[in-house]
Amino acid sequence: MSSPESQQAALGVFDSGVGGLTVVRALRELLPNESIVYLGDTARVPYGSKSPDTIRRFSVEDTQFLVGHGVKAVIVACNTATAHALPLLQATFRVPIIGVLEAGVEATLADPNCERVGIIGTAGTIRSSAYQYALAMRKPSLQIHATATPLLVPFVEEGWTDHSALKLVLKEYLNPLLAKGMDTLVLGCTHYPLLMPVLQKMLGKKVRLVDSASTCAAHTKRVLEDQNLLRTARSKPTLEIFLTDLSEQAEAMAKRFLGTEFGKVKKATL
Ligand code: DGL
Repeated sequence: MSSPESQQAALGVFDSGVGGLTVVRALRELLPNESIVYLGDTARVPYGSKSPDTIRRFSVEDTQFLVGHGVKAVIVACNTATAHALPLLQATFRVPIIGVLEAGVEATLADPNCERVGIIGTAGTIRSSAYQYALAMRKPSLQIHATATPLLVPFVEEGWTDHSALKLVLKEYLNPLLAKGMDTLVLGCTHYPLLMPVLQKMLGKKVRLVDSASTCAAHTKRVLEDQNLLRTARSKPTLEIFLTDLSEQAEAMAKRFLGTEFGKVKKATL
């Protein structure tokens, strides 16, 4: 149930690291009046190569931290965590829990001409088959080709988003999908929005790109509207960023993902 207090509370957002700040960036564009508490589990990143049990345990701890900060909803800004832990989180916590996957699936199917979909993500996300299953359930005629692309996260973290080595790797990953006639590519990882320009250039207009950050922000807006949880206060909204491990590298990366300066990053203990 919404109350005036819960409306004013912040949105909680978590990711395995700082990649989820691409979702925060999209949220701030679409919902500029919302306060946000972000948790990046930089001490334990990556989640993409971990086992489902570990990913679920970490995700529960991340959510507990945010709920402990009084957030009104939690956005799981990590495809790997969404793919493995969303139902568990929704069954465990009382606040609305929003994942990145559902929004991506909706956005993919919003185009009725979409027939052949490629999905890229971490090994964990692709192995979970969560995207493949959700898409096939809604549109059984869809041809789905999913590929784990584990080399992409390090490229993005290194800032090599237009590097010739990256282009070589992308070709290796994407050529088999292009050979199948892919018309839509789902970017199933929070790091990949930073690859949009290079992908758009490589794939041209014939392949539609669906990114999890902007689709998740749009989905969150709908949930807040439906549950009467939009912040109405006129005071300036806040952005608090917590990381489980503080390092200069993580802070520099965080700036790149968020696309803007922010206040002091705080250390989180889970
Ligand atoms: N945040 C993860 C995701 O969206 C990528 C990084 C990781 O493997 O933890 O799947």
